[in-house]
Amino acid sequence: MAQEVRGVIAPGRNEPVRVETIIVPDPGPGEAVVQIQACGVCHTDLHYKQGGINDEFPFLLGHEAAGVVESVGAGVTDVAPGDFVVLNWRAVCGQCRACLRGRPWYCFDTHNAKQRMTLTDGTELSPALGIGAFAEKTLVAAGQCTKVDPSVAPQVAGLLGCGVMAGIGAAINTGNVGRGDTVAVIGCGGVGDAAVAGASLAGAAKVIAVDIDDRKLETARSMGATHTVNSRSTDPVEAIRELTGGFGADVVIEAVGRPETYRQAFYARDLAGTVVLVGVPTPEMKLELPLLDVFGRGGSLKSSWYGDCLPSRDFPMLIDLHLQGRLDLGAFVTETIELTDVEKAFERMHDGDVLRSVVVL
Ligand code: APR
Ligand code: ZN
Ligand code: ZN
Repeated sequence: MAQEVRGVIAPGRNEPVRVETIIVPDPGPGEAVVQIQACGVCHTDLHYKQGGINDEFPFLLGHEAAGVVESVGAGVTDVAPGDFVVLNWRAVCGQCRACLRGRPWYCFDTHNAKQRMTLTDGTELSPALGIGAFAEKTLVAAGQCTKVDPSVAPQVAGLLGCGVMAGIGAAINTGNVGRGDTVAVIGCGGVGDAAVAGASLAGAAKVIAVDIDDRKLETARSMGATHTVNSRSTDPVEAIRELTGGFGADVVIEAVGRPETYRQAFYARDLAGTVVLVGVPTPEMKLELPLLDVFGRGGSLKSSWYGDCLPSRDFPMLIDLHLQGRLDLGAFVTETIELTDVEKAFERMHDGDVLRSVVVL
């Protein structure tokens, strides 16, 4: 039977978000209804609200979530009612060209939920990133649910649903950081800090954090940065070269998304080093580079989308490392808040002190 639950919707472009009653139908074939326990507030939710992604209002926001499977539809075998799961917005199909070539993180036929949740008047909701988890319950494709060790706190587990996984994955998956590597991370917000933690976890010898804000650099240190550079006062390319014996870093991770930081990342890598681009630029941004530098510096430039993660491989592993005390995912949770506080959390997002506000239900 369809159920009525509370959920946070973005009603229209730039309008404040609000809690509404939403109707969650029973799961159909291949679907699951998940009782949400925690859901982090991400910049992407804010972009949905601002109309920066598309205009399919109203949106049911929230996509960094963990909870317990309540019911599953026909044919679902990977998860069962009672399972503690982390949700992801990249349930891969297994059959497209990308999947068949062994690169499922580029899957172009992701099985995200159909839009079947509605308001009480029947208005269809667009769930953010096919999830919509600022709600007591949500309907997703079963492939969006990954079972993890239930002894982890839900507010910590949910982080892997987006930003923190994006950062850790940029280091361990896309950048393939290995033991003894030198790594620089430009931009130490939530995503950059997660890249710092990922590089540290992977055994990097040096993790150089770069930001324009000293408070961010301090936090980056607590996440595993061995050196910090304030790029407002110091040229980060020179500083990174100096800290790496004149060479540049083996892996440079850009987590800002601006032309000047893309440029810094390009020049701060060692010859044959790797640049991992995580920061998302806007459509009008351009970067001009001398072709001789592009040719002469070798190496590779890679963009990283959701940390090139495979949820069923990466989520249980990272949760286990956290439970073993080897990766402090809890450090990313700045505050836990109520469903009614999402609008306030958006306002606090650029405070500088908030890595993640997490709604706990
Ligand atoms: N040089 C260095 N750091 C900078 C600069 C700059 N020119 N401009 C901003 N920063 C720093 C900010 O001080 C902040 O610490 O970059 C960080 C950005 O962090 P957040 O705004 O918290 O963003 P975050 O959630 O970490 O995401 C970063 O990754 O996934 C993408 O879309 C996301 O493009 C965004 C990026
Ligand atoms: Zn696929
Ligand atoms: Zn997100």
